[in-house]
Amino acid sequence: MHVKLAIITGGSKGLGFSLVKTYCNHGFQVISISRSSSTFKHPNLIATIAFDLSRIDFFKELEKQLFNHISIKVINEVILINNAGTLGNIKTNENNSIKNIDTTIKLNLTAPLALTSIITNRFKNTKTIVYNISSGAALKPYFGWANYCATKAGLALATKTIAIEQEKNSTFEIFSIIPGIIDTEMQTKIRKSNKSDFKQIERFIQLKKENLLLAPDAVAEKIYTIRYEKYKSGISITL
Ligand SMILES: NC(=O)c1ccc[n+]([C@@H]2O[C@H](COP(=O)([O-])OP(=O)(O)OC[C@H]3O[C@@H](n4cnc5c(N)ncnc54)[C@H](OP(=O)(O)O)[C@@H]3O)[C@@H](O)[C@H]2O)c1
Repeated sequence: MHVKLAIITGGSKGLGFSLVKTYCNHGFQVISISRSSSTFKHPNLIATIAFDLSRIDFFKELEKQLFNHISIKVINEVILINNAGTLGNIKTNENNSIKNIDTTIKLNLTAPLALTSIITNRFKNTKTIVYNISSGAALKPYFGWANYCATKAGLALATKTIAIEQEKNSTFEIFSIIPGIIDTEMQTKIRKSNKSDFKQIERFIQLKKENLLLAPDAVAEKIYTIRYEKYKSGISITL
């Protein structure tokens, strides 16, 4: 029997919710990690772990909970999708709180690297793919998004670095994914921000008005199909 497992962070809503549905429907056993849970039920959704991924000091506890649900020996393929992310406060650096800077970095950067480390160690000889959900903000500055830009850029470079570190490991691949602008709560938050805090707000309001935001289900399906393509580990894939 070929058992495939997907561990998806931020599976309660937005893109993560669509990823959970997509991987369940494609026959993966799925574990979702987020603070709240959705009402989605599926025989392949084997666990929903309620956990605040910015609480880095409790990651040993998270690891224990995660592996209570996983029997490593029977799994032939594991996909980790580091999807949970936040813009943090949309404010200039000088107006932001140190607490918010810290929690944003922990959720967007420390947590994906820590989870990748856990999975790499636990699944040494199992086909493993890590997808780090990135953003166009990894590549260019957005006024008011210093933490978001920094963490997404940092994660993309860490992705390249880990790919080099694991070059000799033929069972491991890692990618950044730039998904485009998706119709989720994150976009609602952007449109509700103040123009003085976020200079590009009009563009995002316009995109919504013109119905140009991507549907999360369509983005999730595109991400799913990446496993059938041949990409060099470490690269950023723009959907
Ligand atoms: N939407 C876009 O246009 C867009 C564009 C480019 C990249 N992205 C990236 O795509 C990913 C998903 O974004 P989205 O638009 O789907 O955002 P979203 O609708 O705001 O959903 C974010 C998800 O992350 C989870 N999350 C937030 N804080 C968490 C925490 N402290 N611990 C655990 N889980 C947490 C949320 O669950 P809980 O609240 O239940 O914890 C939720 O499931 C993010 O990495 C984002 O940066 C989005």
